[in-house]
Amino acid sequence: MTATKGLEGIVATTSSISSIIDGVLTYRGIDIDDLAEHASFEETAYLLWYGKLPTQSELDGLNRQLGEYAAIPAQVLEQLKLYPKDTNSMAALRTAVSSLALYDPSANDMSPEANLNKAIKLQAQLPTIVAAFAHIREGREPVAPKAGVSIAHNFLYMLTGQEPDEVAVKALDQALVLHADHELNASTFAARVTVATLSDIYSGVTSAIGALKGPLHGGANEAVMVMLEEIGSIANVESVINQKLANREKIMGFGHRVYKNGDPRAKHLQKMSRELGKLTGNMELYEMSVKIEELVTGQKGLKPNVDFYSASVYTTLKIARDLFTPIFAISRVSGWTAHILEQYENNRLIRPRAEYVGPVNQKVKPIAERG
Ligand code: ACO
Repeated sequence: MTATKGLEGIVATTSSISSIIDGVLTYRGIDIDDLAEHASFEETAYLLWYGKLPTQSELDGLNRQLGEYAAIPAQVLEQLKLYPKDTNSMAALRTAVSSLALYDPSANDMSPEANLNKAIKLQAQLPTIVAAFAHIREGREPVAPKAGVSIAHNFLYMLTGQEPDEVAVKALDQALVLHADHELNASTFAARVTVATLSDIYSGVTSAIGALKGPLHGGANEAVMVMLEEIGSIANVESVINQKLANREKIMGFGHRVYKNGDPRAKHLQKMSRELGKLTGNMELYEMSVKIEELVTGQKGLKPNVDFYSASVYTTLKIARDLFTPIFAISRVSGWTAHILEQYENNRLIRPRAEYVGPVNQKVKPIAERG
């Protein structure tokens, strides 16, 4: 038995949800470029769950359900108020999602209908949790979700308490489409491993949020912003990046386990970053990002991934840096739950082996003889 570090290149399951073939990402066989231009996030989530794009009446039905489920249980809201104010926003989300299960009478109902319904509930409630915690930690009362608007609109509304402008809603909606699913990424794999024990969907999503939090995965979008802030201005880009490369530091937002010739999502976020920069009259973050890309791609051959231009996009939308990864979760919960439903449909326990490299033939020494 020989281990493959990081399971690189290992095909661990079959799936009909999303594919990465020759650098092209599809959801249910539709190119992400097509979806990013022509589908809303709600249509995309429907596609991931049901395997086809919705008709208008199916979409209306989904939107109604999302509106009905968006409020979170009062107990979960009260718990958010007890978290230390400096709680990491992904830790808060992970804990709150875990406690949603305690107040859902159907939490352990394993019928396919109940699980699909819980997937929609989770999709509706994650944005509410993230926005509520953003207010609570500042000592403010959360803004209740409103019905009849998209998830992107509702999230920005709950975050600011004001009607968001159309450009911001459109940009966030497209970012949500681009982040919705990504084959067997680390957090989706974590979700599938958890539910393959026949544990419940809330446990699967809680595991996934824990996996997404790390800076080698979803946490990279926040880490990109930390780097942009550290660099400070376009004049410093060259010296800071060259120093990091000379120190063999990782440049956040670059590189990918699967894409070696570029992440197909990055170009959409780059375009969005440029357009939002132009609209707001502040191109500095965009220009700094372009300069970083030139240096990192030029010297290391590494291309930006989905997280790189997300940082300037979300900052231009006036979203706090530590909400970037929770926004990723708000989108990816559609993919996680689609994968969880698929895992339940054709389940087998996921239990690989480890190549043992520790000592052999050891004996228990009496405690007094142990040095
Ligand atoms: N900056 C500098 N060097 C890098 C970077 C980077 N961002 N990414 C990879 N490399 C280098 C590594 O140092 C290594 O070099 P070496 O062979 O000389 O030691 C080589 O490229 C291979 O890198 P690995 O880390 O082994 O590649 P792996 O496939 O394991 O990792 C990962 C992929 C984690 C995404 C990596 O590229 C990385 O850490 N990137 C920065 C974090 C990031 O942006 N994560 C988000 C990924 S997208 C997502 O999850 C949503």
